[in-house]
Amino acid sequence: MDKMWAGRFQKALDKEADDFNSSIHFDCRMYKQDIAGSIVHAEMLCKQGIITAKEKLQIINGLSSILEDLQNGVLSFDMDAEDIHMFVESELTKRIGDAGKKLHTARSRNDQVALDIRMYLMAECDEIGGLLKELLKAIRDLASEHKNDIMPGYTHLQRAQPITFAHHVLAYAMMFTRDFKRLIDALDRMYENCPIGSCALAGTTYNTDREWEAESLGFSGISLNSIDGVSDRDFCAELLSCFAIIMMHLSRFSEEIILWSSWEFKFIELDDSYTTGSSIMPQKKNPDMAELVRGKTGRVYGDLMALLTTLKGLPLAYNKDMQEDKEAIFDAVDTVKKCLKVFTPMLATMRVLPDNMRKAAGKGFINATDLADYLVKKGMPFRTAYKKVGEIVAYCIDNGLILETVPMEKYKEFDPLFDNDLYNEISLDTCVEKRISAGGTGAASVEKQLEYITEFLAND
Ligand code: ARG
Repeated sequence: MDKMWAGRFQKALDKEADDFNSSIHFDCRMYKQDIAGSIVHAEMLCKQGIITAKEKLQIINGLSSILEDLQNGVLSFDMDAEDIHMFVESELTKRIGDAGKKLHTARSRNDQVALDIRMYLMAECDEIGGLLKELLKAIRDLASEHKNDIMPGYTHLQRAQPITFAHHVLAYAMMFTRDFKRLIDALDRMYENCPIGSCALAGTTYNTDREWEAESLGFSGISLNSIDGVSDRDFCAELLSCFAIIMMHLSRFSEEIILWSSWEFKFIELDDSYTTGSSIMPQKKNPDMAELVRGKTGRVYGDLMALLTTLKGLPLAYNKDMQEDKEAIFDAVDTVKKCLKVFTPMLATMRVLPDNMRKAAGKGFINATDLADYLVKKGMPFRTAYKKVGEIVAYCIDNGLILETVPMEKYKEFDPLFDNDLYNEISLDTCVEKRISAGGTGAASVEKQLEYITEFLAND
């Protein structure tokens, strides 16, 4: 196919170079955005008296028919075209003749592609936001069901203090609400900078109306510097870092699910529909989905790094290197969506095993802090109490006891401040109930967290 820019060239582009240069095989997925942007551009050109009403109608009808034909499969992408922008324009000209050649007045592919990616990301982020909310719902439901189920809380993966399962999973809910807000924040900035009308880099001699065009496309403002308009990919880097953080959270949660589903923990059992067997070991039930989510986190980090590295040495304004932005973004968008679509139902269908959690919480002296606090409440300085309880723990380890089974006479030997009420104070239920500080594992705080998530889900 003849290049649109063929005018000054005497030879055709080398075949290998042509393939290398072309982006249609991946940017074709932006066809809807490309057509929507072009329709508004034609409207603006007409409104400003740059093309006639008849030409505008021809262009809009032509573009609409291309969209329809692509959607119905009547038209397929010409993989010899250089990119989606060239494809749509040449198809339009094929269909409506000279009017089609007027569409590219007062714009360039440089501002066109900058617009298309933004519009593409708007739609995708909408979907990702919805998927995050689905995940939040699943976590909220899981937490409401397990408000009273006690498990060991960990630091350094060592049993540390008793918490409820609800409190544990709600920590992830907090992360995903921040992820949602981070997306909105990045999108807001993206909406403020509609690039169309920046043209190649310096603006145009035509009397265009960029504000009108931006508003018609759903933006809240225009990029104020045309060079920045065509060179800016900050929104891609910001959104990729949002995606990387979402993946980091999903990966940490996956890691816990992998641990919890092992025989060593057995806090949960994944549903058969989200586990796989082994080709050789008949007893195996593997948490492949969680492992893959954890694994795919690496590639999304890679997408972010690839984009940042591509951009770091680029002089202003547009450089062809920037064509590389799309594959990184598309891959990250696809990966985040796929992961969320599998992770949420996997979480919603897993069976929680509270008895095993409680059993694990009974070991590991996770009420030792509470025993120290008991002494503190009776007047002993915390550091002294901490040391004394350390000695009691050592005694228990030597004698195969736990804090609950040390007899009172023995406690009295350690310190006369100990009394029979200590047994209630160090029971796991009391330990959790007494964690009344804001944000702690106590019931009121967990209730407040649940309310926060429910409200978050109800808003917008
Ligand atoms: N396919 C190109 C890209 O994705 C479109 C912009 C081309 N601009 C140019 N001046 N060659 O970046």
